[in-house]
Amino acid sequence: MTTIDTASTVTTVSANPAPARTATATTVLLCAPEHYDVTYAINPWMDPSVPTDTALALEQWRALRDTYRSIGFVVHEIEPGPGLPDMVYAANGATVIDDVAYSASFRYPERQPEADAYAAWLSNHGLRVVPSTHINEGEGDFLVVGDVVLAGTGFRASVESHHEGSRVLNREFVTLTLVRPEYYHLDTAIAVLDARPGQERIAYLPSAFDTASLAVLRERYPDAIIVSEQDAAVLGLNVVSDGLHVVMPVQAGDFAEQLRASGFEPVQVNLSELLKAGGGVKCCTMALRFSQPTILSPTAVPIATTPE
Ligand code: ARG
Repeated sequence: MTTIDTASTVTTVSANPAPARTATATTVLLCAPEHYDVTYAINPWMDPSVPTDTALALEQWRALRDTYRSIGFVVHEIEPGPGLPDMVYAANGATVIDDVAYSASFRYPERQPEADAYAAWLSNHGLRVVPSTHINEGEGDFLVVGDVVLAGTGFRASVESHHEGSRVLNREFVTLTLVRPEYYHLDTAIAVLDARPGQERIAYLPSAFDTASLAVLRERYPDAIIVSEQDAAVLGLNVVSDGLHVVMPVQAGDFAEQLRASGFEPVQVNLSELLKAGGGVKCCTMALRFSQPTILSPTAVPIATTPE
């Protein structure tokens, strides 16, 4: 018989203890959907004949932004570009690791001007921007997990961009091939729940991958959460996590339960309007990974001063 109950320690033993989780400081870049619309179709979610409600998209997006602030994220915003209805999906603008931004080079011409807009913002805020010579859509296909980048291909990013990205960002890139058109970006098929080296945790949808990629995922992440087809189909995997809070769609109810059972805190938002273009929480969010907490250039960010 074991009894642990001293003045300083009380240990509670339960059948399935959920691990204690902690939040990592997180800084993100967002783009308001002021010009949001579905005017072309570059993924199976998009149907230009279905009307969109830009005011509702803005309202839902503001709720996402305010949710981030409420859990302590530092939120930056880039000016939305007229005529760029998909610019709200900031994840696609570049991949930032340790103050270096590997720029995007979009597969479809409709989105190509977004790459320069994001590159300009990042460079104006003190990051070293490295232009890409191969097609990639930023964090849509590049997911930072521990010391590696899980890199999707099959629909958007080219394998050549994995090699280039690896050199530019100084990380091992692990190529994974997507096979289902509705899961055209890796961030629609894998959720990064804990990116800290040594504590990596992901969730994914097995049917989105080819056999070889699935074998890689099973081997690297034996404790991954496997989500249902239903939850993936509302872009339930398209989440942003700080290691504790998982900002996710309200529509993915079973996944929220799975997360709770693993000690995460789901924070649910409704981006139903932005789903019409095939985007969710993560799509709307670029992670700014700095080597130090406040690397943003003070010349680019005006500091309010009080006159004497
Ligand atoms: N309509 C956009 C496209 O097809 C959606 C992008 C979603 N972004 C993402 N990170 N999955 O390019």
